[in-house]
Amino acid sequence: MTVKPTILQELPPDLVRERLPRHVAVIMDGNGRWAKQRGLPRIMGHRRGVDALKDILRCCKDWGIQALTAYAFSTENWGRPLEEVDFLMTLFERVLRQELREMMEEDVQIRFVGNLSALPKSLQLEIERAMDQTRQNKSIQFTVATNYGGRQEIIQACREIARKVQQGVLQPEEIDETLFEHHLYTDGISDLDLMIRTSGEMRISNFLLWQVAYAELYVTDTLWPDFDRVEFHRAIASYQQRDRRFGKVKV
Ligand code: FPP
Repeated sequence: MTVKPTILQELPPDLVRERLPRHVAVIMDGNGRWAKQRGLPRIMGHRRGVDALKDILRCCKDWGIQALTAYAFSTENWGRPLEEVDFLMTLFERVLRQELREMMEEDVQIRFVGNLSALPKSLQLEIERAMDQTRQNKSIQFTVATNYGGRQEIIQACREIARKVQQGVLQPEEIDETLFEHHLYTDGISDLDLMIRTSGEMRISNFLLWQVAYAELYVTDTLWPDFDRVEFHRAIASYQQRDRRFGKVKV
């Protein structure tokens, strides 16, 4: 078997290791357009999208980025044609089954976030299995937002907190940002540093609404299936040039 040389396997010398984002999120937009441009069915774009995601995940690990969160399916995506939705559900399941061994070998911890109870039962079982098996893995935290909505995430956190107040185990005065964050799906993951959106749209689309508060945004016209390490390098280089002030002024 010939091993394809991977471009940019090591951290490129122009990037500063100490200033890498710890947590990157991606809105993987443009799969459908990528396929259409080639006269292919939309599902082919999703297939190629998986390849792109795998490479970016491996790249994050190679370069020492601790966490990657990908928007795979939004609560609004149920409105797509039934056959596309079915294809995506089957794709998630197949990818999970096929990639689990490699995720173990590469020490990837995978978690799925969102309203998972509405997903097909067979997919839920595959998700549970992958999350259980990779729970102790340490090299990178890979989070897949599926049937995810940022507003819905905030509401479920509010409900959980309200329940605790009702039960008397929590006082309203104890509710602060840190406590709130412990009730979000991203509990245990570093603060979001960089959100990348492909295919040019300047929207957050209900993704990580709380977490994006102080993240840097990077939008590229490149369609997701074409988003490779060269593109990712550009995104990180742009991030490293930003002056992150978190609302303060420099003295
Ligand atoms: C957006 O492109 C893409 C999606 C809604 C699906 C993304 C899913 C994957 C890449 C698969 C990930 C798989 C796993 C297991 C994590 P679009 O269809 O909205 O493209 P368009 O805007 O050009 O129509």
